[in-house]
Amino acid sequence: MAKTFEPKSIIVTGGCGFIGSNFVHFVAREHPEVKVTVLDKLTYAGNPANIEGTGAELVVGDICDASLLDKLVPGHDAIVHFAAESHNDNSIADPSPFVQTNVRGTYELLEVCRRYGVRMHHVSTDEVYGDLALDDPARFTEETPYHPSSPYSSTKASSDLLVRAWYRTFGVPVTISNCSNNYGPYQHIEKFIPRQITNVLWGIRPKLYGDGKNVRDWIHTEDHSSAVWAILTRGRLGETYLVGADGERDNITVMRDILRGMNQPEDAFDWVRDRPGHDRRYAIDPTKLRRELGWAPRHTDFAEGLAQTIQWYRDNEDWWKPAKRATEEKYAAQGQ
Ligand code: NAD
Ligand code: DAU
Repeated sequence: MAKTFEPKSIIVTGGCGFIGSNFVHFVAREHPEVKVTVLDKLTYAGNPANIEGTGAELVVGDICDASLLDKLVPGHDAIVHFAAESHNDNSIADPSPFVQTNVRGTYELLEVCRRYGVRMHHVSTDEVYGDLALDDPARFTEETPYHPSSPYSSTKASSDLLVRAWYRTFGVPVTISNCSNNYGPYQHIEKFIPRQITNVLWGIRPKLYGDGKNVRDWIHTEDHSSAVWAILTRGRLGETYLVGADGERDNITVMRDILRGMNQPEDAFDWVRDRPGHDRRYAIDPTKLRRELGWAPRHTDFAEGLAQTIQWYRDNEDWWKPAKRATEEKYAAQGQ
């Protein structure tokens, strides 16, 4: 195991988004001695309310802005890089911001880390590996070849390759994690689970793509946070770690779980147009992370995690209501 890295001051890019803000809460709770600066552009997916009460400082700005990075980054011990355009359906409608933020933005962060000798943890996705067949016993490992399908996942794959090259060629101190589908509080309502919960709460019928048999490997976002912390502080430089919690479920099962959990009939949803290029199945083998760093998920009861997530959206309508109408109008225009 590598020597423990003990950062005193970190920059969290995308810290006002779903997973980034949960990570900021995690650090504030578990490592209050660490000073956190959030760098976030506050796109439609970023909300400063997500980090209220954490004590983190917010700098509103773009990770593509090299001169801002030159002012901000020196003096910090590490960048934990969550900022991205993150939604597959958006990347199909307009790939351009995905190329800019996910590829160019990661490049600018690597360059500033190179200039000032700062460490970077790059947060990525299991989607870089493409998909698996439903009847394939295999799961993704760190050795699985890259085979991304969508504009989103291909820009994330590109960013991973940049990170690897900057480590090998320039010796920038980096680590990479590729995680499966997260769920939990603060997730934007464009995503599958919160979209269906908020649909039910607003009396809209939930929407299932294609045949509903696509499988996602669900992990609670707090478990993702603890994995990122373990890799940042104890991971080996230049290494990739896959993050997953043995949470494979097909979409129709999750849809029925949500409906049951909200006292609705299990068939009270609409079948809608499938996503073009829709990946069939993701599945993570997290053996390396578990063996090497001793990490284990705590939220292993999906039913309980989902019930808490439903309750969070019930309790926080003021948080998601402003985005609901526009989100559903956008989907309706796409036949979804
Ligand atoms: P999100 O869309 O909820 O949040 C993204 C955040 O990044 C927002 O706060 C947004 O304002 C900010 N941002 C976007 N462009 C920016 C820019 N140019 N400069 C500065 N800030 C910018 O995303 P998320 O679901 O929280 O995902 C976070 C990261 O985790 C992404 O890198 C994503 O690829 C990765 N990831 C997500 C999942 C998942 O299930 N959601 C799983 C694995 C990996
Ligand atoms: O695997 C990790 C990835 O998980 C992350 O890299 C992405 O940032 C994150 O958005 C997520 O990608 P998915 O495309 O898997 O997530 P999404 O919530 O969009 O969809 C989950 C599944 O549900 C997918 O099979 C599509 C389906 N779906 C989605 C929506 C929004 C529906 O059936 N109905 C819907 O309304």
